[in-house]
Amino acid sequence: KVKVKTGFVCSDCGADYPKWQGHCTACDAWSTIKEVRLGSERAARRDGFAGATSSVTLLSQVECTEQSRFSSGSEEFDRVLGGGFVPGSVILIGGDPGAGKSTILLQTMCYAAASKEVLYVSGEESLQQIAGRARRLQLPLDRVKMLAESSVEGVLEAAKSERPEVVVIDSIQVMQSAALEAAPGGVSQVRECAAALTCYAKTSGVVLIMVGHVTKDQSLAGPMTLSHMVDTQVMLSSTEDSRYRLMRTTKNRFGPVNELGVFAMTEAGLREVKNPSAIFLSRSEKAAPGSLISVLWEGTRPLLVEIQSLVVGAQYGSPRRLGIGLDQNRIAMILAVITKHGGLVLSDQDVFVNVVGGIRVLETSADLAVALAIVSSFRNTVLPQDLLVFGEVGLSGEIRPVSNGEMRLKEGVKHGFTRAIVPKGNAPRKGIPGLEVVAVTSLPEALEAI
Ligand code: TYD
Ligand code: MG
Repeated sequence: KVKVKTGFVCSDCGADYPKWQGHCTACDAWSTIKEVRLGSERAARRDGFAGATSSVTLLSQVECTEQSRFSSGSEEFDRVLGGGFVPGSVILIGGDPGAGKSTILLQTMCYAAASKEVLYVSGEESLQQIAGRARRLQLPLDRVKMLAESSVEGVLEAAKSERPEVVVIDSIQVMQSAALEAAPGGVSQVRECAAALTCYAKTSGVVLIMVGHVTKDQSLAGPMTLSHMVDTQVMLSSTEDSRYRLMRTTKNRFGPVNELGVFAMTEAGLREVKNPSAIFLSRSEKAAPGSLISVLWEGTRPLLVEIQSLVVGAQYGSPRRLGIGLDQNRIAMILAVITKHGGLVLSDQDVFVNVVGGIRVLETSADLAVALAIVSSFRNTVLPQDLLVFGEVGLSGEIRPVSNGEMRLKEGVKHGFTRAIVPKGNAPRKGIPGLEVVAVTSLPEALEAI
């Protein structure tokens, strides 16, 4: 007899609980915890994701078939993936509704279909809708195979007879498996369907791309186990003005995770932005105190960003420190360094720091720009608009060099910057024509320079 196991699972984040409770402590949502059937013991013990081979083998005896990558049909997408699709890999594409997940997949698949067998499974939009959009975008449509299906068994059946090399599931949240009684979209259904599809991809060598919706707190809806199952997790997000779409991997078993892909959303669909370094700069307006340009390094490319800071006398009680696009702890640390080594008293000031354009700074190279922007706002002085600043700030007030210093500077020169304050270790030995570089080793020196 098969025993039915049930458990309590948050439908937003997938956290498991031994008994029901009203509040999910993992994702802070209310009334999201539901009792679910976890599937039969037998189902739970089926093959691992990598298939049913279960004999012990020496590592040296495992045959390696060369994993030859192939293009996704888009250069930016390829770049984010680390050089295209790897056969047998599973990719999860997450993003808000309207982020452009369906659009990018439709576009790339139409082009990828020229050389590969592609099966596009839509459980959300009707085939007429998709065909209408593809016609409007003037995509080559004749080789993409479409399937409107929300049953996993149906998808696997079709895949068996069509033998595709790439399968797109749009989206995993609408998929359901007859093996489970739970409602589609629920944690157990999503987990079960994703597991069945992943197992199929691993054993057949197809590239499986699953679309997943994101909840308001930016975590992928459905079970977190989805992230563990897939090889690559790609997030598609919109910039503040919603003109651009940023694509980034948050997990990648076959490539780097720091590569940024940039697309522009236009009437004619998503367009690749090949040279995105200056898309976040809007330098038409008058210079304002607290504003400064820095250069980030995104994967293999530089990206110019504007750092804004506002320092105002604290109104009530303890002062506020708020960072948008920056790590809160990083700001606290920079403020402490400014206080100790810059001699500024900020303890009675509210400090806000914003990275313009909705970019998230994940490296330390913006530290010095953040520090100088804060000082500039505090002193209410305007910094020159042709000034570029980057460098890491250390706890003892030292300014440390960052990677690719010279290339960051050269990118700045391309966009009309004529002055730069950088760590000594990043100062170009030969000099860069048209750029006046001030090399600093400590925060006081940098403050001196402005
Ligand atoms: P879509 O791919 O349907 O988003 P998702 O699948 O992630 O939910 O994208 C829909 C958005 O893209 C919608 O806001 C309209 C916009 N869009 C354009 O601006 N131009 C276009 O050519 C297309 C196809 C969509
Ligand atoms: Mg969609």
